[in-house]
Amino acid sequence: MFASNEVPLIRDIGRKDGAGALMLPEVSLKNGTIPEKMARKTPLELPCVSKPEVMRHYTKLSKRNYGLDDGIYPLGSCTMKYNPKINEEVAGWEEVANTHPYQDECLVQGNLELMYNLERALCEITGMDAMSLQPAAGAHGEFLGMLVARAYHEANGELEKRKQVILPDTAHGTNPASAAMAGFEIVEIKSNDDGTVDLENLKGALSEKTAAFMLTNPNTLGIFENQITEIAKLVHEAGALLYYDGANMNAIMGKARPGDMGFDIVHLNLHKTFASPHGCGGPGSGPVGVKERLAKFLPVPRVAYDEEEDYYFFDYDEPESIGKVHSFYGNFSVLVRAYTYISMMGADGLMEATEIAVLNANYMKEKLTASGKYTLPFKRLRKHEFVASGEKLLEKKGVRTMDIVKRLMDYGMHPPTVYFPHLVHEAIMIEPTESEPKQALDDYVNVLLSIADEDAEVIKSAPHNTPVGRIDEAGAAKNLVLTWKMMKE
Ligand SMILES: Cc1ncc(COP(=O)(O)O)c(C=O)c1O
Repeated sequence: MFASNEVPLIRDIGRKDGAGALMLPEVSLKNGTIPEKMARKTPLELPCVSKPEVMRHYTKLSKRNYGLDDGIYPLGSCTMKYNPKINEEVAGWEEVANTHPYQDECLVQGNLELMYNLERALCEITGMDAMSLQPAAGAHGEFLGMLVARAYHEANGELEKRKQVILPDTAHGTNPASAAMAGFEIVEIKSNDDGTVDLENLKGALSEKTAAFMLTNPNTLGIFENQITEIAKLVHEAGALLYYDGANMNAIMGKARPGDMGFDIVHLNLHKTFASPHGCGGPGSGPVGVKERLAKFLPVPRVAYDEEEDYYFFDYDEPESIGKVHSFYGNFSVLVRAYTYISMMGADGLMEATEIAVLNANYMKEKLTASGKYTLPFKRLRKHEFVASGEKLLEKKGVRTMDIVKRLMDYGMHPPTVYFPHLVHEAIMIEPTESEPKQALDDYVNVLLSIADEDAEVIKSAPHNTPVGRIDEAGAAKNLVLTWKMMKE
């Protein structure tokens, strides 16, 4: 017998033989269809369970999931916002979902037109001249951006000396990882007391060895880098490129464009700002936009349009391209969702989304930190997210930020991002996004404030009302058990 809130593995409820489902007919394959070394030698060890058992098992598991359809999910830096269902519907249309990447160009003119128009829309939103839709994630876009920077310096005969990429200490972790994967050395600079780029530190780090400076604006503290034009000037004077991590684009779209701020290369996270769900390893899209002089380095094929023939086609004719970074043309269904979202919102709608995202973040920031229970390092106005600190609670009651956010789960709320960015002690990073109503913001802050007054022992041992209590997070990350085979071993 299993306790009612326990969900055993389907293997553990299965029997040795008998099954509830109709058996599929035997498959008769001609000898040699499957190469000998690939043919299965032993029967598959499938669990034998009846149909209702399968249904109940997976329904129970699905009820333990938490998503935006359940409630607020304010994971800072992750932009977990509610996405209109129409995007899903359009991405599921037969004409969209069932096209095959090997279909002839003349049969997929609509798909090509959509990609072409999406590229143009994203160029307009970011102020860039050319865009590639190939990368499958933000980090993948960063990697492509760094390969473009390499190709640029190589074409100028400077790659040998330009080996360094500079980053501020607020940078998202993927930035240094992507630059290092592209073969660059990382130089980190400390932010100033405002939480923004320290110009003196930047000047000190820039040299003829610099290939690029990577920056997100607003940065991961949610603060706008208002010296950005001065930063761009310094970077360009040093002969380097300025890279924009556009994962935070929902803080400025319709208001300001990285292309106008002086950025040379930009990546976007369509699976954040442009309405595909973010996370869980699902397909994403991290398009990369560049200024004209870098366009020739973008991956092939580029989607092109022949006006005379009124015909869209894949253009492979770019000898200086860095090559492909994804099979076929990227994750098409994510592109369809983004195109639907942008078309339905229009320019005014996108700007309004930005305004509400910023208003929501600042409203929550004020409400949460006004009482002093949570403090606010760096006093400036925030854009779409803010980072508070739980250091006062640690001092007074010995409870850590991790304890507080675990306790949130007892109230049926998803924890925010914690301990990032690293320059904030006991960091609590909240991004409410534009899609949350005021009531949800109020409820979330009120629960955080009332947890701060609870008994320390209750907080430290949370969560209490969830199917699983406090888990060994480091252990779970280090000792991955992902398959039944691994578990048996
Ligand atoms: C600021 C920033 N940069 C880069 C990324 C990386 O994007 P992805 O998770 O799609 O690789 C994220 C992810 O949320 C981010 O917040």
